[in-house]
Amino acid sequence: MSLANKYRPRTFEEVVGQKFVKRVLARALDRKDIPHALLFAGPRGIGKTTLARIFARGLNCEAGPTSKPCGVCRFCKEIDEGRSVDVVEIDAASNRGIENVREIQEQLRYMPVSRYRVYIIDEVHMLTTEAFNSLLKTLEEPPPYVVFVLATTDPHKIPATVLSRLQKFNLKPHSVSDIVERLKYVAAKEGISVTDEALRMIAERSEGSLRDALVMLEQAHIYSDGTVTEKDVSDMLGVVPDNLYSLFMDDVVKGNFKEAYDRVMEITERFSPQEFASGLVRYLERRLMVEDGLSFEEKVVLLRMALDMEVHIRQSSDPYAWIVYDVARMSAFRRVVNLDEISRYLGDPNKVPPPAGYVPPTPPVGESEPQTVPTESTVEDPIEVIRKKNPTVAGYLSDATYTKEGDTLHIVVSSRIVAQKVEKAADLVKDAFGVSEIKVQVKKVQNYRDLFDEIRKDWESVD
Ligand SMILES: Nc1ncnc2c1ncn2[C@@H]1O[C@H](COP(=O)(O)OP(=O)(O)O)[C@@H](O)[C@H]1O
Ligand SMILES: [Mg+2]
Ligand SMILES: [Zn+2]
Repeated sequence: MSLANKYRPRTFEEVVGQKFVKRVLARALDRKDIPHALLFAGPRGIGKTTLARIFARGLNCEAGPTSKPCGVCRFCKEIDEGRSVDVVEIDAASNRGIENVREIQEQLRYMPVSRYRVYIIDEVHMLTTEAFNSLLKTLEEPPPYVVFVLATTDPHKIPATVLSRLQKFNLKPHSVSDIVERLKYVAAKEGISVTDEALRMIAERSEGSLRDALVMLEQAHIYSDGTVTEKDVSDMLGVVPDNLYSLFMDDVVKGNFKEAYDRVMEITERFSPQEFASGLVRYLERRLMVEDGLSFEEKVVLLRMALDMEVHIRQSSDPYAWIVYDVARMSAFRRVVNLDEISRYLGDPNKVPPPAGYVPPTPPVGESEPQTVPTESTVEDPIEVIRKKNPTVAGYLSDATYTKEGDTLHIVVSSRIVAQKVEKAADLVKDAFGVSEIKVQVKKVQNYRDLFDEIRKDWESVD
C-alpha cells in the first residue's frame, strides 16, 4: 500500500490542519444535528476525501453519530476497508451525466443498512448542467437518512442554485511546516531516514498537497540508498539545491554579472529555466527572514526581480533571452535602486546621516514655515521661464516645493530620478530663479506604499 493511503487519517484528531472544518463536523456529529449536503472545496491532496470518510464513519459507527467513532464495530471496519454499502464514492469526472444522477436517485428509496447512506461525489463541478439540475431537486429535500458530501477543486464551476443548497467549507493547502511535520511523523513510523533539508525541499515542492508530499517521500526513499538526502530529492524532482542558489546570489550581490550568468547557464544544463526561477523565488523568500548581511529592503528588491524572472520565463518562448536580462538586472540591483536612500526612508533618521553636503535650510527670522518663492504678476513665474526652454524640467518643478535662502534655492522633489533631472538642468534653474546655487533634496517618503511607488518609478525610468 502506498504511504499516502496507509497514512490516511481515520479520526478527526489525526487530520492535519483544517481546524475549522474538523470542529464544525465534530460538533454536528456530537449534537446529532446532521447537515445533509456538504461541499468541500480546495486543491488536491489536502484532506477532502479523508474528511468525508471520517464524517461517514462518525455518522454510521454503532456508537454514533459521534465525533469519536470506535473504529472496531462492523460499520467502522467496513468503511475503513472501503466495502461499506452505505458509503458510495462517485467520481463525477467520469460520471458526469444526468443518467448518473438518476441512478443515485433510484437508490434513495432504499434504507441504509447502517444509519446513513453517504454519497461522496468527487470533482462534482464536472457534472453536466442537466445533471446539476436534476441533483438540485434531491439536494433540496434529501431523505432523512441520506447525506451528500460533495468535493471539488473548482467551486466556481458549480451553479449558484446548487451552491446555495450546500454547506460550503473551504479547505486550505497545507503549510510547508505542517507538511514537514507530517512527513517526519510518517518517516519515523516507517523507519525512513531522511534529512531535514530533503523534507523541506519535498514540502515546498508539493504546493500544499500532503498526498503529493507523501508520494514524493516514497519515491525518494526508493531512489536513495539509505538516507534520503537533499541530493536525492534534487535529482529526483529536478529541484535546484540551495547551495547552487547561494553561490549564484553571492555573484549577484557582488555585482558580478558574468559569473552570475555563467552560474545560471551551468544550473540550467541540469534543471529547466522554470525550475531555476521558481526555486530562486522560494530560496529568496526563505532568506527574507534570515540574517545574511543583506538588508531586508535589498532582499525585497531582489525577490521582486526573481518573481519578474519567473513570470518572464513562464510567458516567453525564449526563456534564455529573459534570463540574460533578468540576471543582469539583479546583478545591477544596487545601482537600479538607491538603497542608501531607502534605508534613510525606513531607518531611524537620527542614525543615518543626511547626504553629504546637505545643509538644512534655516527659515528666515520671524517665519516658522518655509517660504515659497512669491510669484508676482509683474515678475514672470520662473517655472514659466524654464518651461519655454525645458518643459520636462518645468513639469517636475511644478510639483516641487522650493525655499530661497540668500543666494541659494532649496528644492524638494519627489524622487531621486527627478532630483537628477533637475540637477542636470541646474544652470537653467539658477537663471530662472536668479540664484547662484541650487540644492536639490528628495522628499522624505512617509510610508511603504510611497516607498514602493518610488522603487517602481525608479525601475520604470531606467533607460
Ligand atoms: N489534512 C490531512 N491530514 C493528514 N493527511 C492528509 C491530509 N490531507 C491529505 N492527507 C494525505 O493525503 C492523502 C490524500 O488525501 P485526500 O483526503 O484523498 O485528498 P483530497 O483533498 O484530494 O481528497 C491521504 O490519504 C493522506 O495520506
Ligand atoms: Mg479526493
Ligand atoms: Zn464504530
